[in-house]
Order: sequence, then structure tokens, then C-alpha cells
Amino acid sequence: MRRVLVTGGCGFIGCNFLRLMVRERPGVEWVNLDALTYAGWPENTEDFADADNYRLVRGRIEDGMLVEALFAENGGFDAVVNFAAESHVDRSIAGPRVFVETNVLGTQTLLEAAHRHGTSRFVQVSTDEVYGSLGPEDPPFTEESPLQPNSPYSASKASADLLCRAYHETYGMPVIVTRCSNNYGPYQYPEKLIPSFIRHALEDRPVPLYGDGMNIRDWLHVEDHCRGVALVLDEGEPGEVYNIGGGNEHTNLEITGIILDALGKPQDLISFVTDRPGHDRRYAIDSSHLRRTLGWKPKHAFEEGLRQTIEWYLQNQKWAATVLTGASA
Ligand SMILES: NC(=O)c1ccc[n+]([C@@H]2O[C@H](COP(=O)([O-])OP(=O)(O)OC[C@H]3O[C@@H](n4cnc5c(N)ncnc54)[C@H](O)[C@@H]3O)[C@@H](O)[C@H]2O)c1
Repeated sequence: MRRVLVTGGCGFIGCNFLRLMVRERPGVEWVNLDALTYAGWPENTEDFADADNYRLVRGRIEDGMLVEALFAENGGFDAVVNFAAESHVDRSIAGPRVFVETNVLGTQTLLEAAHRHGTSRFVQVSTDEVYGSLGPEDPPFTEESPLQPNSPYSASKASADLLCRAYHETYGMPVIVTRCSNNYGPYQYPEKLIPSFIRHALEDRPVPLYGDGMNIRDWLHVEDHCRGVALVLDEGEPGEVYNIGGGNEHTNLEITGIILDALGKPQDLISFVTDRPGHDRRYAIDSSHLRRTLGWKPKHAFEEGLRQTIEWYLQNQKWAATVLTGASA
């Protein structure tokens, strides 16, 4: 049986990835290493947690002894997909250190173990934020765009990307990096823009929008991201970087307006608040490399995907209360 180590599989994107993989690939054993931080919840995996080909291990990716012990079991892993990260920019501004520990040291710990055990594929899930910010007329980021991270979060992710590159160049390790734009979809921790704004609106609380609300993000449905990662896992070229993006640029103000409309709430719930320091103005990603070389294309149209996502959060308010407070509503 093939064995794949997925890290951070109790978080937003990791649980959506495992939900697809555990069901569609029963011949693979999926081992999920997750620290179960505030953002990682076994509840996110409830519908597949009992599958014979799935196992959750609670632990930190920067814990070298634990990681080594996992790789030493049952002949090690055929592949690693590293989703585990501290992922919230605001938290990285308030406390950068854990971002370095998890995102940089954790990635290096996994790379080291994968190298020592001859793992034949290592996919590092990164972000478009490593490229920094675009001006209004700039073309979207390509894989050749310079790394110019502006927040401690994006700097830690860029550092991990560079370690991946170095492990490929120095040791010939089969490492592949993916850089994705903003994801939306079910199971996103409700501190992030879309689920947080839905929750505020449902409770008739002001929806806090940074600055003038004109920051632009390129949105991609989480399932389309996961399909891209799976494709890269199967067919990606070692040493390559693949951008994954939806080509759906919207201002935060537009997204907020759509959410309020969909929930039948008035636009005057919008409350402009002091901007985030170093707030990137615009992200847009050119994913033509992945489209051209591996044939990836997103399936979810943005308007319909966002409508379904809003509906999911409406239907799963108990889930949101559980993950926000640690107790069922
Ligand atoms: N959410 C997005 O829009 C987006 C976009 C592009 C890239 N990414 C990247 O995708 C990955 C997943 O993002 P997400 O939104 O699912 O994040 P998330 O915060 O929802 O989940 C992170 C998961 O990692 C786990 N984790 C945190 N620290 C850990 C540690 N030290 N050891 C083991 N597990 C740990 C958490 O418990 C959680 O389950 C991240 O690497 C992120 O940088 C996210």
C-alpha cells in the first residue's frame, strides 16, 4: 500500500484535500500529522475519520523526534504534502515567532526526514503572498516573479519555499512548491474574511472592513486548489513551482457586498476600520504554467461557488460556534 503523509489535515484546506483523497484513493494510506492548534479540528474530518485508509497523529511538524519516528514506521512515506502552517496574517503581526517555528523550522524538519528516508515526492503548499503586492495595472504574478513578502506570515512561507528550493538543488530532492491565491469554501476557520463576515452579518454585528475596502484578492474554490495539489502530487516536475489561481479578482468591499446581499442584510453593516499594517493592496496569479503543462483548470464558477459557500456556513453555524469557542453551541 502506498503511504502519504499529509500535514495540517485538520485545517481548512488540508481537510478538504483529505476528504477527496481518502475516498477516491482507497489504495493509499493517508496519515494526517496535525498539532490541532486553534485552527485544526478533528471535527473537520468527522465524515472520513473512521476510514480504514486514514489515520490522525497529533503532533507538531517541527518536533524532529516525532517526525523521525513516523518516517521510521512501515517503510516510511512515498510522498509528503505539507499544508501545516500558521496561516493568519493578523496573528503573524501580533506574534511572529510561532510562524517561524511552524512554517520555517517545521518545513525544514519534514524536508530533512523526507531526505533521510528517500521519500520520492514532497509537495510544499505555499501562497501567492510570497510575491508581495501588485499595483493596479501590474500583470499577475508568475512563478518567475521575485519573492517580496511583506508580512511575517508571508516571509515565513517564502523562507520555507527557499528551503524547498535548496533541498532540491543541493540534495536533488524531488520537491515541488505550489503557490495558491485566496481560497474560499467550507471548513475555513471563522477568523478569515468570508466566514468571519458571514458570522458577523448573521448576528447583525458590524462587519469590520480594513482601510477603504479596495484591497484586491484573487479567489479560488478550495476544491479546485485541492485538485491542483493532487495533480502536482501525481504529475508535477520535481524542482518546479506551480502557481494555482482562479483569475477571480475582487475587492474586499465587493465580496462583503455579495455576502450581505445573499444574507438579506443591509450594506450599512459595513464598518471601515484602521488598515492592517503592511497590508498588501492586490494579489493576482497567473496559473498558465499549471494549466498548460498538467491540464489543470478550475471547475467552480466564482459566483455559484461563493453562493454555495455562504449556504454551507448558514447550515453549519454549530460547527462555527464549536471551532470558535471549543464547545458546541
Ligand atoms: N487559506 C488560504 O486562502 C491559503 C491560500 C494559499 C495558501 N495557503 C496555504 O495552505 C496551507 C493550509 O492553509 P489553511 O488555510 O488550511 O490553514 P489553517 O490555518 O486553516 O490550517 C492549518 C492547519 O495546520 C495545523 N498546524 C499548525 N501548526 C502546526 C504544527 N506546528 N504542526 C502540525 N500542524 C500544525 C493546524 O492545526 C491546522 O490544522 C498553509 O500552508 C497556507 O499557507 C492557504
